Amino acid sequence: MTQQRSAVLSGLTATASVFDEYAKLDSFYTDSDLLPPLIRSSYNAVLGYVAYFLTDAKMNGRTSVLIDVGTASATLIEMALELFPDAQCIGVEPSEQMTLFARKKFDSGLGYGNVSILQGTAQELPEMVSEGSASVVTMHNAAHYLSDEDLSRAIGHFRSVSAESGGLVMTLFKPDYDFRSLLQANIGYMEDTSRRWLAMQLNPSREIISLVNAVSDVVSRVQRGQLDFAGFTDRLNGLLSLTGKDHESALPVRLIRSAINALPLEQQLTPNIYRHAVERLQEMLQPYYQIKEFRRNHYSGTQHFVVGVAL
Ligand SMILES: C[S@@+](CC[C@H](N)C(=O)[O-])C[C@H]1O[C@@H](n2cnc3c(N)ncnc32)[C@H](O)[C@@H]1O
Repeated sequence: MTQQRSAVLSGLTATASVFDEYAKLDSFYTDSDLLPPLIRSSYNAVLGYVAYFLTDAKMNGRTSVLIDVGTASATLIEMALELFPDAQCIGVEPSEQMTLFARKKFDSGLGYGNVSILQGTAQELPEMVSEGSASVVTMHNAAHYLSDEDLSRAIGHFRSVSAESGGLVMTLFKPDYDFRSLLQANIGYMEDTSRRWLAMQLNPSREIISLVNAVSDVVSRVQRGQLDFAGFTDRLNGLLSLTGKDHESALPVRLIRSAINALPLEQQLTPNIYRHAVERLQEMLQPYYQIKEFRRNHYSGTQHFVVGVAL
């Protein structure tokens, strides 16, 4: 590793260590079956654009190459491979634990030999992948971790590692992104899923039944505005501490973990989340890309949006 690379990596410890922790927890990072519908719809929208670029490369006799920057547990790559099993996929991720987690996923179960997961940042991309190689670069829910300067530099790198007709697809939070509404949608999902799961159990334990009931109560308090984020986390943590080890792998317990786990995002996302307004992003993209589409209100009911871009 060059000195410059290790300096950049060590400068990223705060973000990377949060994601190191996430890689150890059972959340939507580590179990894509638990993806909340809102997040799944976001991946699907991005995949629509990705499919265009991978197909275009294939039709023109080139290798289809996807580079996913800030890949975390490589869910987007996993989903792309379901549609394009022959695509070459490279995931780039600063968190060591996420990198290891994603590598294990492809080494063990999925059986794809054409995936590489590299540890590094968007800013270091040219040191890690060949110039002119990507059919499409994706950055899904990760751009907000970069300052304006770093994101600008990273977009230049995305261009240089892309083939001439290669595209870029990224998602971004709107400046007035409403974390509370996303939280409410996600905890509603947690409660519904736990209830459906409970209904399917033949002999649910009393402990799990009372846990699901207690969670319903906490969720409805949040929804009525009677509990804030901190109170919500405290209550859930309290409920988990009362739940015995025997129930560690029960779905409601895992969903509670992932809900608690999602909460510190509010702190993580600021301040960059509020800075990248559409106009600012357009300025950053224009030297390198011809913008095809800004798709607003990508998550219905929340204010997250996807940007599809092509040369
Ligand atoms: C919210 S997660 C999204 C992960 C993944 N793209 C997905 O949608 O499932 C954001 C990821 O961005 C990564 N990240 C943070 N700073 C980064 C940087 N400078 N370059 C590349 N990735 C970064 C984090 O480590 C984390 O894994």
